[in-house]
Amino acid sequence: MVFWGLVLGALLVVTTGCLYLLGVLRQRRPQEPPLDKGSIPWLGHAMAFRKNMFEFLKHMWAKHGDVFTVQLGGQYFTFVMDPLSFGPILKDAQRKLDFVKYAEKLVLKVFGYHSGQGDYRMIHSASTKYLMGDGLEDLNKTMLDSLSLVMLGPTGQSLDSSCWHEDGLFHFCYNVLFKAGYLSLFGYTKDQEQDLRQAEELFVQFRKFDRLFPRFVYSLLGPREWREVGRLQRLFHKALSVKRNLEKNGISRWISYMLQYLRERGVAPAMQDKFNFMMLWASQGNTGPTSFWALLFLLKHPEALQAVREEATQVLGEARLKARQSFDFKVSTLHHTPVLDSVMEETLRLGAAPTLLRVVHNDHILKMASGQEYLLRSGDIVALFPYLSVHMDPDIHPEPTTFKYDRFLNPNGSRKVDFYKAGKKIHHYTMPWGSGVSICPGRFLATNEMKLFVLLMVTYFDLELVDPNTPVPPVDPQRWGFGTTQPSHEVRFRYRLRPTS
Ligand code: HEM
Repeated sequence: MVFWGLVLGALLVVTTGCLYLLGVLRQRRPQEPPLDKGSIPWLGHAMAFRKNMFEFLKHMWAKHGDVFTVQLGGQYFTFVMDPLSFGPILKDAQRKLDFVKYAEKLVLKVFGYHSGQGDYRMIHSASTKYLMGDGLEDLNKTMLDSLSLVMLGPTGQSLDSSCWHEDGLFHFCYNVLFKAGYLSLFGYTKDQEQDLRQAEELFVQFRKFDRLFPRFVYSLLGPREWREVGRLQRLFHKALSVKRNLEKNGISRWISYMLQYLRERGVAPAMQDKFNFMMLWASQGNTGPTSFWALLFLLKHPEALQAVREEATQVLGEARLKARQSFDFKVSTLHHTPVLDSVMEETLRLGAAPTLLRVVHNDHILKMASGQEYLLRSGDIVALFPYLSVHMDPDIHPEPTTFKYDRFLNPNGSRKVDFYKAGKKIHHYTMPWGSGVSICPGRFLATNEMKLFVLLMVTYFDLELVDPNTPVPPVDPQRWGFGTTQPSHEVRFRYRLRPTS
């Protein structure tokens, strides 16, 4: 009798434990946000979320209001949708929300990289030194040379200006930006032709990884795809290995500084290779897609293209490429392009859709702008999706789905920074780079390289859509939440170098 009592007791404990793990027993506590566990134990709403995060969150927002907690694959996420209440989450002076913990888990899974204690600070201090201010000026020049090399070939102008070239616009932009960005940051050998070939091959593999990326993060790959991801990871570790760095010169100071830090901390070379892969991903995964949206919007809005071209002529003069020369202009011009700045800001508003995540350290109260208070539970994740809650808010940005090239310009031509929600000035009126502790440290370089590329394209090239009536393609729904979105299909375009003088 005693024996069966013990067995029953043990069974009860195990069953309760399982139910707890499956999330079945979790109940909304007083003051906590509305809780929506979904109908499937443990998975919760994971399938709907992964299928189309944007539509899912729209639905949940309409159902529950500005704050709600949903279960996604055994983890509880509290989404905060009121941008006037973002302040305490992004500033988090009491350090009750942790960005690093979640990021470390993710990079271990995706890049195989074991983060060290000071990594986060090291990346940000390297970026402050070399991706901003004076350090950035050097990199801008390198980037211009790399764009010249990639777009015109090693001997200067190798494109025949008398004929049109046709390509997919997404492929073209991603390809050019990737190769120029990769070579500028990870360096050249003495053989530029060979460097270009290697960069091209790396791009092909990068796109394979990129296509699998969203489903890889969500653990949705089939066995063959898992093997493919493993192969690609090994390929990148080898291609970016620190051993190969010895053959290169001109590795950016950003990368060299970070590798030196890792070396001095005794991090094994194999782990440094994985770090390089992570940096390649962070630096090259968004600039190409963003440049695609920028050029597409310009091609679909001739008045915007005209305004950018006029501004380019003002700052660059009547630029014409001389035979066998590379692009030649002062990168300092990039500081004097308010129209292009507005175009890029508008492009990022429409194209960039990251998710910002923080792990809740201890139970604590989140005070909303309305005065309402919510209890956040330790171990849950607080999530922001500014694309929906900020970029697409018609109160902040009237006609939010429309591209307006001058949305970020004041009538006097200066940069517009005053935006309002419910009559209150709003600090975070776009958030393509994230914000707070996790803000993208490469945002200034990224902006400059994309601006350089767009300037080169509109100044030195004629370009047009193969079918001018082709609509702007919808976003591939798998890409919501992963930085810059990608189109669900290609758009064909043609380009031709303008005749030389
Ligand atoms: C259009 C281009 C880009 C966009 C939209 C973008 C956006 C972002 C976003 C949203 C994050 C994460 C924020 C978060 O987790 O809260 C991030 C992180 C990061 N980005 Fe960028 N990024 C771009 C280009 C670049 C470039 C060119 C570089 C470097 C040269 C770079 C380096 C990084 C790094 C190293 C991180 C991780 C920082 C950390 O661990 O704290 N990004 N970026």
